[in-house]
Amino acid sequence: MDLFESLEELRVTALDELKETEDTSALEAWHSQYLGRKGEVTLQTRSIGKLPREDRPTFGKRVNAIKEELAAVYEDRVQSVRHAELARELEKSAIDVTLPGRPAHTGHLHLTTQTLREIYDIFAKMGFEVYEAPDVELENYNFDLLNIPPYHPARDMWDTFWVDDARLLRTHTSPGQIRVMRERYPAPIRVILPGKCYRYEQITARSEHQFYQVEGLAVGKNITMTDLIGTLAQFTKMFYGPGHKMRVRSSYFPFTEPSIEVDMDCILCGGEGCRVCKHTGWLEIAGAGMVHPVVLENGGYDPDEWSGFAFGPGVERPAMMKYAIDDIRLFYGNDLRFLQQF
Ligand code: DAH
Repeated sequence: MDLFESLEELRVTALDELKETEDTSALEAWHSQYLGRKGEVTLQTRSIGKLPREDRPTFGKRVNAIKEELAAVYEDRVQSVRHAELARELEKSAIDVTLPGRPAHTGHLHLTTQTLREIYDIFAKMGFEVYEAPDVELENYNFDLLNIPPYHPARDMWDTFWVDDARLLRTHTSPGQIRVMRERYPAPIRVILPGKCYRYEQITARSEHQFYQVEGLAVGKNITMTDLIGTLAQFTKMFYGPGHKMRVRSSYFPFTEPSIEVDMDCILCGGEGCRVCKHTGWLEIAGAGMVHPVVLENGGYDPDEWSGFAFGPGVERPAMMKYAIDDIRLFYGNDLRFLQQF
């Protein structure tokens, strides 16, 4: 094959291979193979000496023309390969706007707060307003004015967190009764008094040293035990759902006369008897009674003219019954595995 022929063949091979290059590194390799300082096309000029003298100028021109042609085709190829590379790059890093977003992490209300609000709603429907009384209470309000005599065991240091000689962390929400009566006299009263109570006690699965109560108080003319029982029956039906039975037993509290204890049929066994209800079929839900005349008087209301009822359910215990929670400590443990279930 003569040199002219092999030069043309080299041109065709170079052009064919250039078409196959797909990325920058293949282009660079191609360039140094054909057009580099020691490239196959570049080195063609060295063969000139092997040609007859008259053919040399033609051959030289042809080599130069091919070099220029290849250089121009090469530049075009560089442009299109870069474009393709850029397009691939863009595709890789593109944001897929059709992907669903990750949900934002939001918290929710604690079960105790949810339960409190549910209780507020129920009593609001019956015309009760929320009245807030302080957590740090005077001994006088927590005990004396509620007709709890100085020798009552609740005054023992083992039951009460004392702040100083006269002040304590309220052991129940009942002292709010005195506060609201003194503030509202001589208007009739229909309030609930929610809040935290504190007792200097051993913490167990059934009792915490802090817990919530929602005291209820109604004072008016001709209020009777029937009103109390009707109110509690309505509450039970709305909180636990219809179809539950409620019963009252006589009991004793210093600030009510007569006093009752309110039970409902066990939410777990439906009254059959189980471990939770200690095989009685009943669960205690609240203490209650008719406001003691001494307490009415301490609140400023004449017991000959006024009467009233009061009740004091907890909040965690009813929630425990409703959701079959077996340990009150879970309410204060801040364990997300528990909290996220509600
Ligand atoms: N204060 C009582 C307690 O903490 C609960 C209670 C019982 C409240 C009877 C009342 C009531 O208003 O009438 O154990």
